[in-house]
Amino acid sequence: MALWGKRDDMVVHEADPYNAEPPRGALAEGVLTRADAFYSRNHGPIPLVDGHTWRLTVDGLVERELSLSLAELQHRFEPRTLVATLQCAGNRRAGLIEVRDIPGEHPWGPCATSTAEWAGVALADVLTAAGVSPDALHVAFSAPDVSQSADPVQPYGSSIGVGKAFGAEVLLAWAMNRQPLPRVHGAPVRVVVPGYIGARSVKWVDRVTAQKRPSDSYFQATAYRLLPDGADTDAAGPGDGLSLGSVALNADFLRPDNDATVAAGLTEVTGYAFAGDDRGVARVDVSIDGGHSWVQADLDEQVSPWAWRHWRTKLDLPAGDVEITARAWDTSAAAQPELPEHLWNPKGYVNNSWPHIHLTVR
Ligand code: MTE
Repeated sequence: MALWGKRDDMVVHEADPYNAEPPRGALAEGVLTRADAFYSRNHGPIPLVDGHTWRLTVDGLVERELSLSLAELQHRFEPRTLVATLQCAGNRRAGLIEVRDIPGEHPWGPCATSTAEWAGVALADVLTAAGVSPDALHVAFSAPDVSQSADPVQPYGSSIGVGKAFGAEVLLAWAMNRQPLPRVHGAPVRVVVPGYIGARSVKWVDRVTAQKRPSDSYFQATAYRLLPDGADTDAAGPGDGLSLGSVALNADFLRPDNDATVAAGLTEVTGYAFAGDDRGVARVDVSIDGGHSWVQADLDEQVSPWAWRHWRTKLDLPAGDVEITARAWDTSAAAQPELPEHLWNPKGYVNNSWPHIHLTVR
């Protein structure tokens, strides 16, 4: 039995803490990712939280502190359902490592991203019940899983700005694809922050705090920040670099797999594209001549403003070694940058350079 109920062919970067992504083909099966294929990123051992005794504390700059059981959360607030993509800031780091090594970080491929239908309540409704003070500018989330890789060792935590926190899309979710949230994905309740890097979607959340400043958690203040090339990661401390929030426009191939052998003639090529927050995917171009000429792929239906779009096109491939590349455009007319060399950064975040696959065509 594979770890955490996942499919046998997950690419496991680390068994404990569990860090794994599915093969490309598993993400091509539909716009929703099955729970057994959904990537998982963990900084510490996966806690076992009893949903019967779990309570969510809402505190900080609020008129009324709340302590909610799961049943109270489920019955006091209007239920909400939303399809949203999660994408890790380290997605596609392997492409940056090819440029220059990034010691101590997992070489995630293109599948540290997945999409589910989440059900829960709007964080905004819970914050409204607590009465958030106008002095609060950030909403912090705390969880019980302790990360040995944090400096100093500490439980996981994160925060988002109060404007995003009051967005109707941000959920306290207890179900994923119409099933109770699996333990590995944060049971009994996790935060889902659509459009933001996965790090903000705190699993096993047990405290929501309205405060003046961003979370001082290692995972907000020091990690998940984009450092300039040349920065010393050992010397970098809280507040250094650019805090990552909204997901940058990104895309990659799903089928065929990289290094596959295919028959000459018409071959269907598919992939995903995603742009965070208020930007959508507007167009995806595909090239078999290194970007000298492009064809436009067909975009699958946009099932939710917070979900990726799958794309597909049929290419007439000549026999031999073929390299296919793609680039997505978003609704602000920004396109993906071409080269990972221009994006390399010491922690290896946000590689959104043009994706490539190599095919042998017979
Ligand atoms: N929440 C807790 N409590 N602990 C974690 O290690 N990892 C974060 C986020 N929430 C994490 C967490 C990161 S970096 C990502 S990308 C997503 O969870 C991954 O969510 P998933 O494992 O459900 O795919």
